[in-house]
Amino acid sequence: MTATLSAWSINHYGPPKVLSPVTRPIPEPGPTEILIRIRASAVTRADGMMRTGQPRFARLFLGLRRPRQNLSGTGLSGEVIAVGDSVNRFAVGDAVFGEAGLKFGANASHICLDESGVLMKKPDALSHECAAVMCDGPMTSLNFLREVADLRSGQKVLILGASGSLGSAAVQIAAAMEAKVTGTCSARNADMVAALGAGRVIDYGQEDFSRQTERYDVIYDTLGVSSFAEAKRSLIRSGRYVCPVLGLGLLGAMLRTAIADTRKARFSATGMLKPDVLRPMLATLVDMIEDGKLAPVIDRVYPLGDLIAAHRHMETGHKRGNVVVV
Ligand SMILES: NC(=O)c1ccc[n+]([C@@H]2O[C@H](COP(=O)([O-])OP(=O)(O)OC[C@H]3O[C@@H](n4cnc5c(N)ncnc54)[C@H](OP(=O)(O)O)[C@@H]3O)[C@@H](O)[C@H]2O)c1
Repeated sequence: MTATLSAWSINHYGPPKVLSPVTRPIPEPGPTEILIRIRASAVTRADGMMRTGQPRFARLFLGLRRPRQNLSGTGLSGEVIAVGDSVNRFAVGDAVFGEAGLKFGANASHICLDESGVLMKKPDALSHECAAVMCDGPMTSLNFLREVADLRSGQKVLILGASGSLGSAAVQIAAAMEAKVTGTCSARNADMVAALGAGRVIDYGQEDFSRQTERYDVIYDTLGVSSFAEAKRSLIRSGRYVCPVLGLGLLGAMLRTAIADTRKARFSATGMLKPDVLRPMLATLVDMIEDGKLAPVIDRVYPLGDLIAAHRHMETGHKRGNVVVV
């Protein structure tokens, strides 16, 4: 009898209920592929975007009328159970983590991935649940703070949305980079954000950062809740407003500030960077984890069979850190 894997498919763009469980034969790894038994996978805002096909311009990459690759999930962690003949980075029995990228299919029991992708051996210090989310908040925030914003030791950074997946990682990474960190969140998350490394916490329900006199080197708007125009007066002359949520306003600000302003607006699509660029970032994050400077925040863990409930919670906009299925 052929062994089968369990996964979740998305046949149409829409709400969480468009997710449907599927079984498929477990594939044989190709010459450069590894077969992973998945222990944990992430349920991210980006996964919600793939499921809804929103914003619409994303359908140019995802498929115009329906998802081209119709399996759900990108971030994962598990164990290698078979390898192709030419694989040399991994061996059977290795614990690995990373992302499936545009192949999708991480919310599953098994997956075959090329060893040249964004994959690394999992250190013992990292649980499968935490490893599964490394390519979301931690990798994106390292890319935004270090590469996009060029944040330096001693500089002041304001992190908008400091209790989310990107924000909770960003507070820890910025503190590890020895920046002076301020984070915005609601009162219920203030203690957590302070414990993660924010020297100052602004309750977004009570105070508006843009009306305060404080000036920052970097404003990292993890949720796109502000804009360059609003954030500008809180930036020093050479300040950078960086935001991972692309819209027409941000695009316009990027074009304008590229030519005409000392303050800059910047964006990056982290998942689109080449594996050769992303793997060293994961290695830096693993060092931070082993040094005790970074620990992904896990909000809720669901069984793989409850992926629809996990998606519903993820898209409330109020998760604390990350959501995982196991
Ligand atoms: N460009 C890239 O490379 C890239 C990569 C990954 C993700 N992204 C995008 O990044 C965005 C952020 O994702 P995420 O997973 O970090 O978000 P998230 O975890 O869903 O954010 C939820 C958190 O935000 C807080 N929050 C809600 N409204 C707020 C406000 N007005 N001010 C401050 N905090 C607020 C909530 O706290 P309360 O419950 O207390 O309100 C909650 O803790 C998504 O749009 C995602 O698609 C981009």
